[in-house]
Amino acid sequence: MIERPRGTRDLDPEEMEVRYKIEQKLRNISRSFGYREILTPTFEHTELFTKKSGPDIVNELYHFEDKGGRDIALRPEFTASVIRAYNEGMRELPKPLKLFYFGPSFRYERPQAGRYREFWQFGTELIGPDTTKADAENIALAYKCIKGIGLDEFTLKISNLKILDKFLEENDIDLEKKQDIYHKIDKEEIDEISEEYSLGSKLMEFLNMELEEMSSVLGDPEPVEYLKEVLDLLEYYGIEEKHLKVDIGTVRGLDYYKGVVFEVDAENLGAEKQILGGGDYNLGDVFGIDISSKGFAMGFDRSILALETEEKLPELDDLDCYIIPIGEEGYEYSYDILEELRSNNISADIDLMGRGVGKALGYADKNNFRYAILIGGNEVEDETVTIKNMHTGDQRTIDKNDFFKEVDEGWT
Ligand code: HAM
Repeated sequence: MIERPRGTRDLDPEEMEVRYKIEQKLRNISRSFGYREILTPTFEHTELFTKKSGPDIVNELYHFEDKGGRDIALRPEFTASVIRAYNEGMRELPKPLKLFYFGPSFRYERPQAGRYREFWQFGTELIGPDTTKADAENIALAYKCIKGIGLDEFTLKISNLKILDKFLEENDIDLEKKQDIYHKIDKEEIDEISEEYSLGSKLMEFLNMELEEMSSVLGDPEPVEYLKEVLDLLEYYGIEEKHLKVDIGTVRGLDYYKGVVFEVDAENLGAEKQILGGGDYNLGDVFGIDISSKGFAMGFDRSILALETEEKLPELDDLDCYIIPIGEEGYEYSYDILEELRSNNISADIDLMGRGVGKALGYADKNNFRYAILIGGNEVEDETVTIKNMHTGDQRTIDKNDFFKEVDEGWT
């Protein structure tokens, strides 16, 4: 028995319809912010990801040598690809360049609920401006995406990595060590850091401080002021305060971040609750260019799980018409009706198995058709159609030309 690989899923038609609807919402929201969609290859040179993405992602890469001896990796995320694509062909485009993408990503992780080896990301990158306004725009779009697909039970945690950088500097910790420290903070191993870097309770205390207090402890107010300015700007976007939390312990798991960063947790999900992550990063130096960029990626699959736990999945659309020819003589006439419906973008199907009316109606019911269209000898002879409303059971017989006129005028 050949089964699907570990950590992958087969998505059935109902799941696909739900996903498609959510996808479209995200596309529309991003377009409303002036972002435009791009697509990069599913695989890249492995080096693109090993250069700067950090040990977590690198250990999780799906990579292999291709027939030409190249080291190739399935993308674990899109950000590095987008900056590569920008460098290769989009550098001349006017700034700010606002891009979004949607597609599968691959990470060789231990699969569990909400964690897969193939998963989908919806993400954005804002290339060009390095301003508080750009950070705010980035965070606001992330928020609108989460809110716009219908989620309400989530927390958006915001930080500025430069605040922690300053803290480390003031405590004479070599910034070379900062990635190691960030990874430990990300894994909530505060005690370990405190011991290893002889910080006692200082780090824990610092992480629990209010922004004002941090500012005075650090001696340099700049990184705190920057974050406060971003928070002030977020007010213009109508972001509900109940969802926002300043959390300086939000450090992200990837090594390319450098400034304001954020994550969204859907607490209902338990262990794998992070449904979105992003921030200000630097990948330009991988290509020897100096370019500011800020973005985020939403875990599409986890967001759907979160919608499911909030019982907010979008409703599925019913199919429209199931045509049931009664006896062979009904077929030719039925195909006329089928063609008319399909050419007007009304979903229509016809019995292909020569089933009796009872069974055909059962099929139409199970497949959520709104109407069954019954075509028997009488209908053919009188040039009529009999339409049965599958929800109410009501049935009416009307002239075929009147039916076509109804269809032309927009049938509901
Ligand atoms: P990330 O936090 O590694 O960031 O991934 C973004 C989201 O993808 C996560 O918050 C999570 O919801 C989802 N995700 C990650 N791994 C899995 C998995 N194995 N199964 C299911 N969902 C998963 C990035 O990828 C950055 N590129 C985001 C970014 C864009 N930063 C700047 N621009």
